[in-house]
Amino acid sequence: MFRSALLLFVLALVLPAAVKKDPFGRTPAGEAVDIYTLTNAAGLEARIMTYGATVVSLKAPDKGGQKADVLLGFDSLDGYLKEHPYMGAIVGRYGNRIAKGQFSLNGKSYRLAVNNGPNALHGGLRGFDKRVWTAEAKADSVVLKYSSAAGEEGYPGKLDVTVTYTITPANELRIDYRAVADQDTVANLTNHAYFNLSGEPTILNHLVKLEADRFTPVDTDLIPTGEIRSVAGTPFDFRKETPVGTRINASDEQITFGKGYDHNWVLNGPPGTLRKAAEVYSPRSGRLLTVSTTEPGVQFYTGNFLDGSLKGKGGKKYSQRAALCLETQHYPNSPNQPTFPTTVVKKGVPMTSTTVWQFSTR
Ligand code: GLA
Repeated sequence: MFRSALLLFVLALVLPAAVKKDPFGRTPAGEAVDIYTLTNAAGLEARIMTYGATVVSLKAPDKGGQKADVLLGFDSLDGYLKEHPYMGAIVGRYGNRIAKGQFSLNGKSYRLAVNNGPNALHGGLRGFDKRVWTAEAKADSVVLKYSSAAGEEGYPGKLDVTVTYTITPANELRIDYRAVADQDTVANLTNHAYFNLSGEPTILNHLVKLEADRFTPVDTDLIPTGEIRSVAGTPFDFRKETPVGTRINASDEQITFGKGYDHNWVLNGPPGTLRKAAEVYSPRSGRLLTVSTTEPGVQFYTGNFLDGSLKGKGGKKYSQRAALCLETQHYPNSPNQPTFPTTVVKKGVPMTSTTVWQFSTR
């Protein structure tokens, strides 16, 4: 056991990663979509397509060395072209909500496309998740680019976005974000992957640990009220590893508003430095996902809006809580909350951000 683990470790260090490109179909407008397969010697395989810069699948070994896909999604491009809740996609220009789809910047007010009741959610009607990105393969990464025109979905300024997915020998998929604007604007980029580390129908038995002493409570529209609240004594306390299901139906106003967990946690430690944000562990499979980020927050969402109507990979019906999301991000509605870390991207000043998903077993 120890010898084979050692062998794998040594192989992982000496064998290079591989990146392969294949066609993945066409959009109704006729744009070609490609898919890139990134593999390393330690058993991680990530497939990333140019539509939405989406992570289509992510295969990681369990405690017995058995590889399986840990992401919800679809087998072919068709599934992604239909209405779906951002599975595996890059979300932008602004991840999560902007209240009433409005904000002002430098004394000017802007109206965004609203797509979530009265609010703007995840970039609007046609966000970054519904665009075809250009891509370039490197030795161990794929570099995806999208240029968001000034005025797109109501946002000021052109924003040139680069997202680089890198596979590392340490069984990590690393996501580096970079965005440059030609005029002051706002941005909040994240990946909206839905993880299920065991293949069980729900993630209620997954154990979650969040490196956060505080969270941002929301109103009935899931817009942060502006308060930063301690998690102590609430169902939001994940400072110790806790099964997702233990308190998900607690009689708590915040749980009721979110229909479960759908909140932003304020990560401990200084934003801008890569630090541990979360751990997810499946006792069933033994898979452990460790998320690190430079972002100030993480939206922990427990798939509350999944209702069994979506048929995903292998014809599987995705029911409520079939997966969980850890959307590393700036806080929702920051453009209207001056006390939150700023999401303003200044003209010509690159915005950068990094998130790492590491897979191991225990
Ligand atoms: C985020 C939001 C949720 C929901 C999902 C996608 O997590 O906060 O309310 O929109 O994305 O369905």
